[in-house]
Order: sequence, then structure tokens, then C-alpha cells
Amino acid sequence: MSDAVHQLYQSLAYPSMSHPSTDPAVTAVAAKLAGLDIPTPSCANILEIGCASGHNLLPLAARWPESRFIGIDFSDAAIEEARTTADLAGLGNVEFHACDLRDYDPGDDSFDFIIAHGFYSWVPLPMRQTLLDFCAANLSHEGIATISYNTLPGWSLRQSVVELTRLLEQRPAAAEIGPDHERILAFLATAAGTHTPYARYLTDVLHDMFGKGSTVLPFDDFGPINEPCTFLEFAAHAGRSGLKYLGESCLQDNFPPSLAPGAEESLQPLASDPLALQQAIDVLTNRTFRSSLLCRADAPVQTRITSATALHFSVRCAHRLEGTRLIDSSGNELVNFEHPFALAFFSALADTSPQSVPMQEILEIMAERLGDQFDPTNSLPVIARMVMDSARQNLIQLRYEPVRFESAVPPRPNLGALRLLAAKNQKPLVDVYHAPCTHDEGRRQIAKAMDGSRSIEELAALSSSVMPNLDFHGWLAHLAARGMFA
Ligand SMILES: C[S@@+](CC[C@H](N)C(=O)[O-])C[C@H]1O[C@@H](n2cnc3c(N)ncnc32)[C@H](O)[C@@H]1O
Repeated sequence: MSDAVHQLYQSLAYPSMSHPSTDPAVTAVAAKLAGLDIPTPSCANILEIGCASGHNLLPLAARWPESRFIGIDFSDAAIEEARTTADLAGLGNVEFHACDLRDYDPGDDSFDFIIAHGFYSWVPLPMRQTLLDFCAANLSHEGIATISYNTLPGWSLRQSVVELTRLLEQRPAAAEIGPDHERILAFLATAAGTHTPYARYLTDVLHDMFGKGSTVLPFDDFGPINEPCTFLEFAAHAGRSGLKYLGESCLQDNFPPSLAPGAEESLQPLASDPLALQQAIDVLTNRTFRSSLLCRADAPVQTRITSATALHFSVRCAHRLEGTRLIDSSGNELVNFEHPFALAFFSALADTSPQSVPMQEILEIMAERLGDQFDPTNSLPVIARMVMDSARQNLIQLRYEPVRFESAVPPRPNLGALRLLAAKNQKPLVDVYHAPCTHDEGRRQIAKAMDGSRSIEELAALSSSVMPNLDFHGWLAHLAARGMFA
């Protein structure tokens, strides 16, 4: 064990986060479209390795009462907190163990989903080996492991910045700059400027690092261990442990949007070698981070998956439709639809947003709107291809199962047990799509009062005394649209 890693996590609390890229409702879609007949997440055995205080695992346990959850971590304090939160929220389907992964014996259990986020690159090499060996030995036959890691060559400039920052810290001149990492990063950003493409790139990198803040940096970029690797090294390591690379945990990350338009076509000669293709993509996009899916080497992976599989999932679109144009949250036009099927599809999604509804329901709305233009035999394959393409371009998000919720503000807003505990303990609130949402102290105080006992007017009065400048009703509508109310 690296004493430095152990000491860090025993002495400092890791800032809690939920990670949508680890949500089995998302990873199961990517696995299924990669050809694996993955078990249903709502009735599965799910393990998180390095779960910290359970902020990622607990909302999943609340969502799927029929599934069984285990979280392990070697930080005693984090596990104590995770157990207390589970008890207070009344979650009986989750258990937490304070132990080193090397000592964890799951007995006869096998896992349909194993999550190790923020683990692989941040532990010593023998522990990386233990992680992959554990997954190979304990995944169910058609189970998947979601493992995140930092990648080269994208991470190499950051490595140089970390080394330089550490060197400067040791020099007497550091007294002129300031004692901590953040001040040195800010100093370097000022010195780098923005006068050349390299300077702009370096400054962006420095700002990105700086932006993680003093609570995250000691664990992440400046963690005692942070060893990025190339994608091919990771895939080879997995292969030696008896695991197989399936794809990225979010479908759209297999072909990230930062690739040049038409790149999928120009990279076609590499299509028969998916590992080389992914390595090429990392070099072309300077990717710094991956969240990859692995399955057992002997898992039955079908190679011929048709687009029709996409019609079995649920779907939502987080963008806005204005006439025939799809607009993102920054006001950029993403697509201007010409094909009537595309327009009917996206207008059905606009009507059902922000929920994620079964594709079948969307097809029914489309059939009604398209009238004679929709004929099930010929239209379905065209729509299935369009759904796949839109999902890969991140225009829509596919999920294994629907997400239904009331997006209007209820008369007595109630955030539910887990979110109320999060507000009380100064943690991010996790929305219905498993995304974290951080709040300042004022909003947190108001959130703590949203326990179903107060009317909107009473909460508005509290808001005007705590945060007179807050657009309270706008914020409430935002929380409702993210499915935060029970
Ligand atoms: C960077 S944090 C990630 C936490 C969480 N998974 C996330 O992504 O937000 C790494 C976690 O792994 C735990 N950890 C590191 N080495 C471990 C080991 N050998 N056995 C068990 N837990 C370990 C640490 O205590 C810490 O909570």
C-alpha cells in the first residue's frame, strides 16, 4: 500500500461528488450497444471501489430498491459518514465496508456493475493490478466494470506543470509568489499570456487546473500518486488481467465531439481495429481522461449489433428546439433539421423533456404527427439509425430505463431524505440524472427548509430574508426541472 495515499485519505475529507458517467442506467446502454447482454441495473449487484462517503452510490441505492449495493473504501471516516447517511435516509439495500481493496473478500458474490471512479491513476501500480484482477475474478458473466483514468498524451503538459509547481514550491523564490499550488498556477497563467496558440493552450490548461480549487487539487492533479497512461497501455493491462475493453461508459465519448466534423468517415480505415482507433482519437483530440467499460474476456460479446437496439431504450434531449433549429444552452445552433423524420423526432422530444421516455412512446407521437409519411416497415430502420447517430453526437441521451418526474414545482417542495441530508452536510444535491449541483451557503439554508412542511410562499419569505437578491422562483423552477423534488 502507498502510505502517502492512505495517509491523505485518512487525514483529509475527499470532496463528495456524483458521477453521471458511472450511472448504470447510462453504462448499460453503452455496454448493450457494444454487444453485451448486460443485466438490468434495477435488479443487480452493484459494487463501488473507493466509494468515499457514498455520494455516488447512495442516490443509486435510493433509485433501485431491488438492487443490492456495496461500497468499499479504506478511509474510516468516509465509510462512517456513508453508513450514517444510509441509515438516516432509511436505505436498507446498501452496505459499506472500511477496508483496503487488497483485503476485501466478497465471498460468493459476483457483481453486475463494478464502479472505480478516480481510483486507477491515483493508486500505486500494484494496486492497479489488484483492481483489475479483482474485476476479472468478481464480475458476473455479463457484468461490466467502469474504470476512470487520466490519459496520455493529453495529460503530459499537466504533468510538466505539476512538476514545475512542485519544484518552484521548494525554491526560496516561492516566497515571492505564495505558498500554495493555486497561487503558483495563477502566477504561471499570468506569465504564460495568450499571445501564441501555445500560450493560449497552456493558459487554458492552467485555468482548468486552477479551477478545480483547493479542495480537489490535493487529491487529483497534486495527489501523492497521479500516473496517467496511454489508452493502449490501459487496454493491454486489462487484457493481461483477463478483461476486455468494450467502449467508453458514455456512448458519445467513443467519438468525442472535439473530433473534426466528418472524422468518423476519415477514420474508417481504422474501424476494424477499435483499440488503435481509440488511441488515434486520443492523440487527435489530446484527450486527458477516460471512463472505460471492461467486461470479462470470456463474456459473450456480439459483434453484429443493429441500430434497432437503440429503439429499446429511453431517450431525452437536453437542448432547445426553435422552429427547425436545435440550440444548446449557450445559444449555439447545433443542427438545422431538413428531414421531416428528424424534425418530428426532436419535436416529440421537446414535448416530453425534461423526462426520459421510452423510444416506443416517441415513435407513437412521431407516427401521429407524420401521418402517411410514417410506415412501420420502412420508417423504423431510418429512425433507428437517426437515433444512434444523434446519441453518438450527444444530441440526445439514451438511458436503460425511463425517468419520469413532475417538472412543475409542488405546492410544498420536498427534496427528499438524501438531498436534505446533502444540503445539511454541505454536499452537492444530486439530480434525477445523477448530476451533482453545488450551492452557496444561502441557497443551502433555503434548501434545508424544503422538507415538505413549508409552502412556496413560506420558502419565498425565507429566501428574501436569507438571500434578498436571489431569483427564488426561477431557482425553484430550475430545481423542479432537474427532478429534485420527491
Ligand atoms: C480520488 S478518490 C475518489 C472517490 C470517488 N470514487 C469519486 O470519484 O468521487 C479515491 C478513493 O479511493 C480510496 N482508496 C484509495 N486507495 C484505496 C485502497 N487501496 N482500498 C480502498 N480504498 C482506497 C480513497 O480513500 C478515496 O476515497
